[in-house]
Amino acid sequence: STSGPLLFGVPLKYVSLIVLTVQNSMLVLVMHYSRIVSDVRYFTSTAVLLSELTKLFVCLYLCARESKAESGRLNMRQVYTDVFGGDSWKMLIPAGLYTIQNNLQYVAVSLLDAATFQVTYQLKILTTALCSVLLLSTSLGTMRWVSLCALTLGIILVQLPASPSSAGTVVSGGASSKLMGLVSVLTACMLSGLAGVYFEKVLKGSRKSVWTRNVQLSLFSLPPALFGVLVVDGAGVSSLGFFSGYTRWTIAAISLQAFGGLLVAVVVKYADNILKGFATSISIVLSCLVSVWLFDFHITRPFVLGTGLVVYATYMYGKYSSPSPPAKAASALP
Ligand code: C5P
Repeated sequence: STSGPLLFGVPLKYVSLIVLTVQNSMLVLVMHYSRIVSDVRYFTSTAVLLSELTKLFVCLYLCARESKAESGRLNMRQVYTDVFGGDSWKMLIPAGLYTIQNNLQYVAVSLLDAATFQVTYQLKILTTALCSVLLLSTSLGTMRWVSLCALTLGIILVQLPASPSSAGTVVSGGASSKLMGLVSVLTACMLSGLAGVYFEKVLKGSRKSVWTRNVQLSLFSLPPALFGVLVVDGAGVSSLGFFSGYTRWTIAAISLQAFGGLLVAVVVKYADNILKGFATSISIVLSCLVSVWLFDFHITRPFVLGTGLVVYATYMYGKYSSPSPPAKAASALP
């Protein structure tokens, strides 16, 4: 269905998916570059905190605008009741999961080359599907499971060439840091699937606006994000300072991540997590191509084959989506 609001005559659903594709490619490249551009490396937990703060202010502004559009005047009391009333506690779970995910994403993108990270991160589609089946009792059908297996195979193929040629882009090289990067990205995938499905279920199961939900999400993300700054990076931050190692690329990474979060929220509202996976898979191709020039990433035959399989599998998955995808099933839940 192409219902929903329009932007310049194009359904917001498609605009958000296309913009998400571009944003995803840029985020991985900018984030990776921000980690290698300077000798002094910034504390990633501070970047996660600032990104949540940015989203909080943007979403508060959008909530205020929404309330003004509804009642004809700015009603901050209404915004306050929406944010803290009723089932707001439900956002505690995805807030915690996303904060860990966002921190792990920085770990992974620092240890792996941009393209490997990007493609491995697509396993989110698999974890999202698993979570849909387990949490929303979604039935996927044979073809979609086949697509998911093809996707997994594609990602394994991409991982095969551990060529030393791509080691130049790894921040602190070595097999153990690559393994550490892979463990981080795989954990981030599981958290992404869980948090994404949970967010969609809560969003579509109530009448609260997506911006109210996102104010809750960012607000509840602040304590765990602050925990990261104070406990994980505490010693470094107190001796070198909160903004130690910041460059304009750090600011760009933070802005792009915050913008991406807002896009994900829009995509999940007007489309669903499956279409989101479709959009981000296309972005692999874009970021691989850019990686070739920017980071001297060497494209090998298994890499091309694997990437092709990933993109094809994602296409098949979309094609064989049943008329009632998990997104609709979610809204039927209490
Ligand atoms: O990789 P994935 O699609 O799971 O990325 C989700 C990202 O979007 C996370 O950085 C998360 O903080 C953000 N997000 C958001 N608001 C939502 C859902 C996700 O800011 N409603």
